[in-house]
Amino acid sequence: MELCSISGLKGRVAVPGDKSISHRCIMFGSIADGTTEVRNFLEGADCLATIRCFRSLGIEIEKKDTTVIVHGKGLHGLSAPDRILDVGNSGTTTRLLSGILAGQSFESSLSGDESLNSRPMRRIMDPLTRMGAHISSIHGNGCAPLCIAPSRLHGIHYDSPVSSAQVKSCILLAGLYADGETSVTEPSLSRNHTELMLREFGADLRTSHSLDSTKATASIRPCSRLCGQKITVPGDISSASYFIAAGLIVPDSEILIENVGINPTRAGILKVCEDMGGNITLLNERTEGGERIADILVKTSNLHGITIEGDIIPTLIDEIPVIAVMAAVAEGTTVIKDAAELKVKETDRIETVTDNLTAMGCNVTPTADGMIITGGNLKGASIHTLLDHRIAMAFSIAALVADGNTKILDSKCVDVSYPTFYDTFEQLL
Ligand code: S3P
Repeated sequence: MELCSISGLKGRVAVPGDKSISHRCIMFGSIADGTTEVRNFLEGADCLATIRCFRSLGIEIEKKDTTVIVHGKGLHGLSAPDRILDVGNSGTTTRLLSGILAGQSFESSLSGDESLNSRPMRRIMDPLTRMGAHISSIHGNGCAPLCIAPSRLHGIHYDSPVSSAQVKSCILLAGLYADGETSVTEPSLSRNHTELMLREFGADLRTSHSLDSTKATASIRPCSRLCGQKITVPGDISSASYFIAAGLIVPDSEILIENVGINPTRAGILKVCEDMGGNITLLNERTEGGERIADILVKTSNLHGITIEGDIIPTLIDEIPVIAVMAAVAEGTTVIKDAAELKVKETDRIETVTDNLTAMGCNVTPTADGMIITGGNLKGASIHTLLDHRIAMAFSIAALVADGNTKILDSKCVDVSYPTFYDTFEQLL
């Protein structure tokens, strides 16, 4: 994909359904009784991988465009797959599915692409093993492919060293199959879609916050059944973030992004944009299926650098590449700290963001847990996405304010979370 600088992005767009929520609808629907009807399902490669895995586990899933009907078979209705489950590029599929598979009475294995198979899985293997699960890394390197054999699970309390919704959700899902209560405490609250949605499905799930710190705990007790639901998936704020950034940094722009999920555990980008001086207005705020939703109006603004650190980091972790792009054209210096988790995403995003911003002429220094970025003028460059969808989309936005042409290599990788990204973009020209 070849892009150049423009001005005057105008119009209204809707972004596709939320990736995290779309995955969970398929998973929870599959182990619920009755049908789960999902509207505005994200047809990205990651969520399609989840559908593929649950079909291999014997679940009938009908799909017509963005409407999906999952014919749930109950907590104990999955059947042994006749092949290795292919999780593609999807960390969410791998980690959440492992929690469910740990509670089954059959053996299963799962494996993904090169990036997925190099991401850390000990973070779920350790707590699952403490619950009594038989889960192993086939190559013994703590990564997928993973093999999961039947076992009896018992409830544990897990003090997670990381704020990770994938780790938390994996343990809570295994907890559905354990005897006694299972609870997870994380250093600060990560996205809570699992907690909100499992409760809607009828799970016995509680959450609490420690009074003296930001630590968050979720506890689950086994229940006899989950009940299928009707769910409309809100627009994905992570996908919206590219248009938020474009609206703020491309001269003379005004963009309305409709129906975006603004769950506070996901909406850190909105606060960061405001703190940087961004002109953002939330319109038509409402709650559907326990999730907060709004239309987001963005207008071109003069941004300035800020420090981003602490508890806000888990609420914007996937948006850091595009936040870095905004920082690269803001006045002054932006410091991003406490974000070492960036190293274990689809790529090491401290490295991929630093390398590509440097190629565009930006003054950026990588640190152990983030980046220091001083804003200035960007120049066009060849962007090495390393097949990371968020790098492709973030740098497509950088290209719009760079001098000269920018080439996004392997831009097709946007299919992972936003197959129609470049089409939506054209609506604003
Ligand atoms: C996700 C959790 C986050 C996020 C990922 C989706 C989820 O990962 O980066 O894109 O759906 O639970 P971690 O749990 O590794 O932080």
